[in-house]
Amino acid sequence: MSGFLPEPHALLARLLPGHASICLADIRRALAAAFSAGGISDADLDARFIIAHVLDLSVGEIPLRGELRPTDGQIARLIAMGHRRLKGEPVARLLGEWDFYGRTFRLTPATLVPRPDTETLVDIILRHLADAPALVADLGTGSGAILATLLAERPRWRGIATDLSAEALTTACANAAAIGVADRTLFVRASYAAALAPGRFDLIASNPPYIATAVLAGLSREVRDHDPALALDGGADGLAAYRVLAPQALAALRPGGRIALEIGFDQAVAVTAILAAAGFAAIETSRDLGGNDRVVAALKPA
Ligand SMILES: C[S@@+](CC[C@H](N)C(=O)[O-])C[C@H]1O[C@@H](n2cnc3c(N)ncnc32)[C@H](O)[C@@H]1O
Repeated sequence: MSGFLPEPHALLARLLPGHASICLADIRRALAAAFSAGGISDADLDARFIIAHVLDLSVGEIPLRGELRPTDGQIARLIAMGHRRLKGEPVARLLGEWDFYGRTFRLTPATLVPRPDTETLVDIILRHLADAPALVADLGTGSGAILATLLAERPRWRGIATDLSAEALTTACANAAAIGVADRTLFVRASYAAALAPGRFDLIASNPPYIATAVLAGLSREVRDHDPALALDGGADGLAAYRVLAPQALAALRPGGRIALEIGFDQAVAVTAILAAAGFAAIETSRDLGGNDRVVAALKPA
């Protein structure tokens, strides 16, 4: 039967359960070889993530436990996940969870996989704002990664998370509970800051959809086919969300309150102009670890 499968899938079929002698090191090699043959760039890392998940080990333990003999059931699960990975499902989707800022967030089809880029946004906010009592909002919360992280790092903050997706809000709520910040969080199904009380917020953070519609089809299949379109599609020029949320956020912030937005690498000038036109001051751009413009932050004038 394996003769009918494309070659990377055939490589996995060799691992069929019942091979009592197969050890973790063999499985890791076979998965990594299949992923590599399937054109997956981080083949060995993906193999380790999948093995760690199925065998309930840490990724770092995998090289040290090469002699371990997984059960037939575990091997069957590894093979099934391997085939799904080869068909383009990202590892985070296979695992149903992903780490962000050192904490694990559960994912559903309605939530974006939280990205390292967004850790830059969180870093910049935490660098500028200490743990004094504050009311913060996260617009387009998805898995809740931004708000739950901020509240976990700043125990005196309270926050409101908004999203258009009810399913995303349910997931964000579960994540907030798992991280222990649910008692300081409200979840509101609304467009960006439209439902927020005026003049009350100390900080508004957002990683809105910012990919231009025409670019979506050219994204990797991992993103295009598995992250929700609502989380990606930023309209004709990728800036639609910023135009909507900037004036709403200005109204919701107290004088002296701050906004911090994740942006696409080429959007700093345009988003700066949108924030200036809305009435924000002291507008600054910061870069991510890769050296790309990633965050625009500003102040509501007193
Ligand atoms: C790029 S994702 C960010 C998710 C999460 N904050 C993160 O950083 O991982 C954008 C989020 O905005 C939500 N969204 C899209 N349009 C929205 C709107 N008009 N109002 C509120 N949320 C919206 C999407 O459902 C998605 O969860």
